[in-house]
Amino acid sequence: MTGAQADSTDSAIRANQELWDEWTRIHETSAFYDLEGFRRGGIRLRPHEIEEIGDVSGRELLHLQCHFGIDSLSWARLGARVTGADFSPAAIDLATRLAAELELDARFVHSDLYDLPEVLDGEFDIVYTSRGVLGWLPDVGRWARVVSHFVKPGGIFYINEIHPVAQVFENEGVAPGELRLQYPYWEHERPLAFEVTGSYADRSAAVRTPTEYGWDHGLGEIVTALIDAGLRIESLREFPWAEWQLDFLVRAEDGKLRLPPDVPGELPLSFSILAMKPTLG
Ligand SMILES: C[S@@+](CC[C@H](N)C(=O)[O-])C[C@H]1O[C@@H](n2cnc3c(N)ncnc32)[C@H](O)[C@@H]1O
Repeated sequence: MTGAQADSTDSAIRANQELWDEWTRIHETSAFYDLEGFRRGGIRLRPHEIEEIGDVSGRELLHLQCHFGIDSLSWARLGARVTGADFSPAAIDLATRLAAELELDARFVHSDLYDLPEVLDGEFDIVYTSRGVLGWLPDVGRWARVVSHFVKPGGIFYINEIHPVAQVFENEGVAPGELRLQYPYWEHERPLAFEVTGSYADRSAAVRTPTEYGWDHGLGEIVTALIDAGLRIESLREFPWAEWQLDFLVRAEDGKLRLPPDVPGELPLSFSILAMKPTLG
C-alpha cells in the first residue's frame, strides 16, 4: 500500500482506467493471457463456470468488465450471442478487433460500469462477470442494481470472483502460508492506494501509471446487495484456490494456487454466485 491518495472517487477511477489501458497493451502479448493459444481455438473459462451456467447456445449474454474480451469470446465460441462492456478504450478496441478477426458473434461497448444503463439498451438471458472485478468498484449496492437492470425476468446472473476473505491478508513480501491480517473486509469509502509494479500478468513490464486504487466488499454485503436489487440467490460456492498469485499461496500439483499443504486449517480463496431474476407475477 502507498500513502498516495486520490482527490475523489472519480479521480481514482480515472487513474485506474489509464492503468487498464496500459495493462491491455501488455496483456495482448503476455504468456498469462496466451492470445495465440486463444486464436487457435482456446476456451478460457473455468470448468465450474461452464458447469454452473449451463448451455449458453443461442442465449444473449452480457459480460461486465470484460477486459479485452477473451472470456467473452470464449462464451461466443460456446454459442452465446455476446455483448461485452468495459471502461478501458484500449480493451474495447482490442476485443472488437479480435471478434472481427475470429468471426465470432460478439460486440463490445465502452462504458464505466455504473454508466452502462445509459449507454446500452436491452435485457439479457445471462449477465456474467469474473475474476478480478469487484475490487475496482467503490459501491457494491450500485453495482448490484446495474447487474439486475440487465437481467431479463427468468434470466440469470453469475459471478466467479476472488473471495473477500483472501483479500484481508498481506499478499506481497510474505512467505507461503504466512497469513498477516492487513486490509479491510467490509466496504470503505476511501480507496486503498497501491504502488503499481508492472502488471499481474508480467511484473517486469514497464508501466507509467504510478498508483492503482481499490475497494473491498464483504461477502455478506455482496449477497445482500444482489438480493436488495431484486435477484434470488440460487447458489453460493466457496473454493480453496485463487486465480492469481498471492505470496502466501503456492501452486499445487493440480496447477491451482492454494495454501501450502503444511498450513493447518482452511480458507475460502474464491467464490461463485448464481442468482436468478424472478419472473413477473
Ligand atoms: C481483471 S479484469 C476482469 C476480466 C477477466 N477476468 C480477465 O482477466 O480478462 C478487470 C476489468 O475491469 C475493468 N474495470 C475496472 N473498473 C471498471 C469500471 N469502473 N467500469 C468498467 N470496467 C472497469 C478493467 O478495465 C478490466 O478490464
